[in-house]
Amino acid sequence: MTNDIYGIEKWGKDFFKILSNGNLGLLNPLKIKSKPVDLTKIVKKLNQKLSPPYIIRVSNYLEFMINEINEKFYKSINTIGYKNKFNSVYPIKVNQQSQVIKKVVKYSKKFNSGLEVGSKAELLIALSQKLTKNALIICNGTKDEEFIKLSLLSNKIDMKTILVIESLKELNLIIKISKSLDIKPLLGIRIKLTNLISGKWSQSSGDRSAFGLPVDKVTEALTDLKKNNLLDCLILQHSHLGSQVPDIIEIRKYTQEACRFFIEISNYGAPLKYIDLGGGLGVDYTGENKSKFHSINYSLEEYCSNIVETLKLEFDKAKIKHPIIITESGRATVAPSSILVFNILDTTIFDVKSCPVLNKKDHIYLSYMIQILSYISIDRIQECFNDLNYYRDELRILFRNGQINLLDISKIEKTYLYVLNRIKTFVEEKKLNANPIASKLNNLADIYHGNFSLFQSLPDMWAIDQLHPIAPIQKLNHKPNKHVILNDITCDSDGMISKFVLNDGIKHTLPIHALKKNEEYYLGVFFVGAYQETLGDLHNLFGDTNISTVKLEENGKFKIVHEQIGDKISQVLNYVEYSSDDILKTFSEKTRKFHNKKSISSKEKNQLLKNFKASIDGYTYFEN
Ligand SMILES: Cc1ncc(COP(=O)(O)O)c(C=O)c1O
Repeated sequence: MTNDIYGIEKWGKDFFKILSNGNLGLLNPLKIKSKPVDLTKIVKKLNQKLSPPYIIRVSNYLEFMINEINEKFYKSINTIGYKNKFNSVYPIKVNQQSQVIKKVVKYSKKFNSGLEVGSKAELLIALSQKLTKNALIICNGTKDEEFIKLSLLSNKIDMKTILVIESLKELNLIIKISKSLDIKPLLGIRIKLTNLISGKWSQSSGDRSAFGLPVDKVTEALTDLKKNNLLDCLILQHSHLGSQVPDIIEIRKYTQEACRFFIEISNYGAPLKYIDLGGGLGVDYTGENKSKFHSINYSLEEYCSNIVETLKLEFDKAKIKHPIIITESGRATVAPSSILVFNILDTTIFDVKSCPVLNKKDHIYLSYMIQILSYISIDRIQECFNDLNYYRDELRILFRNGQINLLDISKIEKTYLYVLNRIKTFVEEKKLNANPIASKLNNLADIYHGNFSLFQSLPDMWAIDQLHPIAPIQKLNHKPNKHVILNDITCDSDGMISKFVLNDGIKHTLPIHALKKNEEYYLGVFFVGAYQETLGDLHNLFGDTNISTVKLEENGKFKIVHEQIGDKISQVLNYVEYSSDDILKTFSEKTRKFHNKKSISSKEKNQLLKNFKASIDGYTYFEN
């Protein structure tokens, strides 16, 4: 068994384990004693009917996270002596896929959890779910007349739909519509807190954040509500700190500020019953347990107890009845439950097996390049690199000027790669990671080409430099002998991954195994359940991947509980306004014309049309 070089047991401690056969095992956190499921077996099973890439959703992980968040809050409430309940509310925007929402609703029923919506479409999803009687639907975001009417009328069918006031203009509209319908609204008010958070989403917090009412507008809103006899409808205070909050101190400070508003608004006369602290609970993508963008310096227990303790202290001080605590954790709830699995299609190896042999006609610089091999040493490593590049570049000039031929330059480039790789091996063996040469050499890593689209499946890695742990799902008991960067299947130079979470920190290359002929080699990208599916785009028209929901069972067994076929080419064409019938018709006519001119035989024509039709119905990714 090799070391856990990918840090799997650090970032994936509740969920993943390296099996004795070297494959990646999926642990069942709901039944810790049960035998892990071999992920390669799931992939093998899916391959019988489908093709990679796959999103594999592990339903046990979703259930586990929902249980954990609720149970840890309840534990803190009991230990700290807080005198009210906790209600989790799932923000639909984080992963709206119907299978996910169905499962969230199912697993969170026993906790009476609700849903948070930020648009009309999300409101429709929420209203159509079988929520428990007291579960809340919390409406954030900009609301038009239709949105407000729908929410108000839904209260008539016993739904607890709360309209969260985002602006004074919106409040006026709510007042007008509720009067015209003669329905008293259930209202929340979104407060803009002044505490700034660190991390990637700091712009969601503080004075300059886009959402919620600043303090002067809060007082105006309260006056408007009182004037219109609606102050008694204000039952919830909302605030949201931003996503992936890295530092627990920031969560404490923010909770304290939220309490101050809650106390003041209650003292003004509003019957506030719920304090909603929004999202922000982070995921430790690197397993470092540090206050950094991709990590967090707190555990779930700490998060819950810090919030509950702060609330109790502040409300007791102000002699205010403890309200029901709400959090809207999206990322932490769904991120662990999805894994992207893709196969490697090809490799670009910047290496040659042996050093080209010199002959008399070769340029003198070529012999100098080969001589570098004799002085590779710690003291002269930079010199070796400089010399190698100098000679190669001078020889390239000769080629451009027509002074050496194609065979000469080919031999020179091969020699360059051979010597460069000996320098690379030396740097790795001597662990000269801190040497500036190491990062230069990283830029010359081999490339593995994966069957996935960064833009469709991992958009945050492209757009905001988000890190997701990546590891092979097989051969984890073999020492990797290559260091590579990953390239996706799109024709975009941005479709590269060159930052990796490893056991000893964030590195610019991924240690990986050399590929054997005809061997399928899979990589997993972990914690992709939050935001990625929703934010993904159709760059190069690579669509949704095949998705499989898997339930881990006893004794290393599993059940595929749902399969969703990825986008067909006809579907992605449709998104960009092509009708597959129309393009097939145009193409058939064109083919017929050439058949009439006898440029193509009947057999070839039929074959061409058959292939065209099959592609229209096919998967957008590389298929074997
Ligand atoms: C209002 C609101 N609630 C909840 C969330 C979810 O946050 P997180 O995924 O960090 O839990 C968001 C997302 O930014 C949000 O805007």
